[in-house]
Order: sequence, then C-alpha cells, then structure tokens
Amino acid sequence: MKNGNILEVKNLKTYFKIKQGIVKAVDDVSFELKKGESIGLVGESGCGKTTTALSIIRLLSDNGYIESGKIIFDDVNLAAMTEDEILNYRWNDISMIFQGAMNALNPVMRVSDQIIEAIQLHESISREEARKRVTELFELVKINPNLMDSYPHEFSGGMRQRAIIAMALACNPALIIGDEPTTALDVMVQAQIIDLINDLRKKLKMSMIMITHDLSIITETCDKIAVMYAGKIAEIGNVDDIVFNYQHPYTEKLIKAFPNIYGERQMVESIPGTPPNLLNPPKGCRFADRCHKKIGEICDNVDPSLVSIDGSNHMVACHLKEGLRNV
Ligand SMILES: Nc1ncnc2c1ncn2[C@@H]1O[C@H](COP(=O)(O)OP(=O)(O)OP(=O)(O)O)[C@@H](O)[C@H]1O
Ligand SMILES: [Mg+2]
Repeated sequence: MKNGNILEVKNLKTYFKIKQGIVKAVDDVSFELKKGESIGLVGESGCGKTTTALSIIRLLSDNGYIESGKIIFDDVNLAAMTEDEILNYRWNDISMIFQGAMNALNPVMRVSDQIIEAIQLHESISREEARKRVTELFELVKINPNLMDSYPHEFSGGMRQRAIIAMALACNPALIIGDEPTTALDVMVQAQIIDLINDLRKKLKMSMIMITHDLSIITETCDKIAVMYAGKIAEIGNVDDIVFNYQHPYTEKLIKAFPNIYGERQMVESIPGTPPNLLNPPKGCRFADRCHKKIGEICDNVDPSLVSIDGSNHMVACHLKEGLRNV
C-alpha cells in the first residue's frame, strides 16, 4: 500500500451464532500495521484476540462470520474474498502459529514430511526441492537439519515449537500471526523462542501480530500494542505509550498485573470481576462495572469511541481521556 501499511483492519465485526443468540466476539476493531512492524494483541481470556486473527486468515469455525468491516492486505480486502480466493493468500502471504499448535503435530508422521506436505499443498515444487527448503528452514529456526526425519515425540517442547515456526515460515509469508506461541513452554525455553522470533523478524523483515496474555512478551517482540477488552480495542499505541503512559483504567490494571515490566517483584494485582457476556454486552463502556475510575452514568450509557491523544497514533476509548493518568 502507498502509505507503507501491509495490513489495515477497519471496523471489523466478527460474530458467532450459538443457540442462545449471537456472540459479538469482535465488535468494531480497527488497527494498522506497517511493513516490517509488529503489533501485540493483549487482553484477558475471551476478549477476541484469536477471533481477530482467525478473521484475518479467514479460518473461523462454521458458526463464525464477518458481520462487517474490511481487512485490507496489500490493497485487497480479505474480508470480501471467496473461500477459493483466500487460499492464494493463506500460508503464502499470511501464516499463523495456532494457539496450542505445538501439540498439534501429527504424532505418526515424520516432522520433515509434515512440513514438506504443507509446502507442496501451497506451491507446485518437487519433493526434492521441498526437502531442501525444510533443511534451510531448520537451519533458520536453529534445529540441526540431521534431525528433520524425527517423529514429534523425539523432539523437546522447544524443538516442536521451532518446527511449528519453521512450518509457518515455509512459504515465505509477509505477515505472520503468533497466537500464544510460547505459552506452553517453560520460562527458559520461552526466552529462547522469543529470541528466535525477534531474530527471524529482523532477518526476514516480516510483519507480525503477536497474541498473548503476557505483556512482557509483547514488550520484547513488538513495536505497538493493542489492548483488547470484551471484543473492542480499549487502547492502542506504541509499546512505550502503553507501558509508561497508559490512559485506560483497564490498561493500568493489566500493566500492574505484570510486575516484571518494571523489573521489580511486587504483589501481582489481579483484576476483580469478570468481563461481560458477549451475547449481550452492556450498551455503555464494557469495562464500566469493573472500573476503579468510573465517572458516572456516562460510563454505563455511552460506548466511548477510540480517540487520538494529541493527534498521535496513541488512542484510547475512555470517557476520562483527558488527564486520566495518576488521578
Ligand atoms: N466457535 C465459537 N462459537 C461461539 N463462541 C465463540 C467461538 N469461538 C470463540 N467464541 C467466543 O468469542 C469470544 C472471543 O473468543 P476468543 O477465542 O477470540 O478470545 P481470546 O481473546 O483469544 O481468548 P484466550 O486468551 O482465552 O485465547 C469469547 O466470548 C468466546 O467464548
Ligand atoms: Mg485465544
């Protein structure tokens, strides 16, 4: 795109139909990503992070659908594409490391064969060439290529996750989405995978969407953060804006729940209450009933829109926008 963006998500609404009604899982989400840039989506369980990602690569479950909005990738609207059209983009241009993917490798198939199969599904190249690609991919993710014919159970958790990353990189995508790519790993291995991701991003100049509960992972891997709450973006901005100059009371709670960011150990503050039911979300601010800085009726009755702070790309959806910090 002329403005340097690789992705523009515009007013995306993604809903799920269930017996009891319609779950508004993603409800008017917008963000942009420049070529080579990485954005982190953070927020409590059920706030719509995975649904946002699955909307982008159009892999929603059968009861899910994009109600409205646009997903512009490289000047085309992915949201309006047919199943057949999207196949040209999925994996070739945009790939995803799925939540829990590490345990989704086929246990009775050699790791090399699984990656070769994935490559051949998307590109018409010979088995020989695909095998050569797997060797290169293994080198890239720092697993000895001599081990590529192993079965998944012969790999450690960290190696399995590296293999999954190799698979996601197999068709050289411009955008990669990682959905909790380190969650199941122990802390040491987690740190190695984060290093690898940072390394790969620099080397391959990829754009990335990183989804996690863990803000400290985002600060290590991302340029920007979108804080999601109950299907909406509560606050978005550069990492420093969000970590050091947060404006939304929910962001504040989230930051304070991760003491590691400040490098000191302190009591982790949990956020009292639970997010609202997305079958029937409140008409005002969705955080209002848990908010420690609620002003009054306006919070219950009016859904705050996302507004820019001083004309910058730091935006917040809160009625308290002005002078909120340290109130
Ligand atoms: N297939 C589905 N059918 C019905 N509701 C769904 C479906 N998938 C997700 N949802 C609902 O959509 C909302 C958003 O879910 P989503 O999985 O996107 O959240 P998330 O932020 O990724 O959470 P987590 O951190 O737990 O992975 C939740 O209320 C969830 O229950
Ligand atoms: Mg998820």
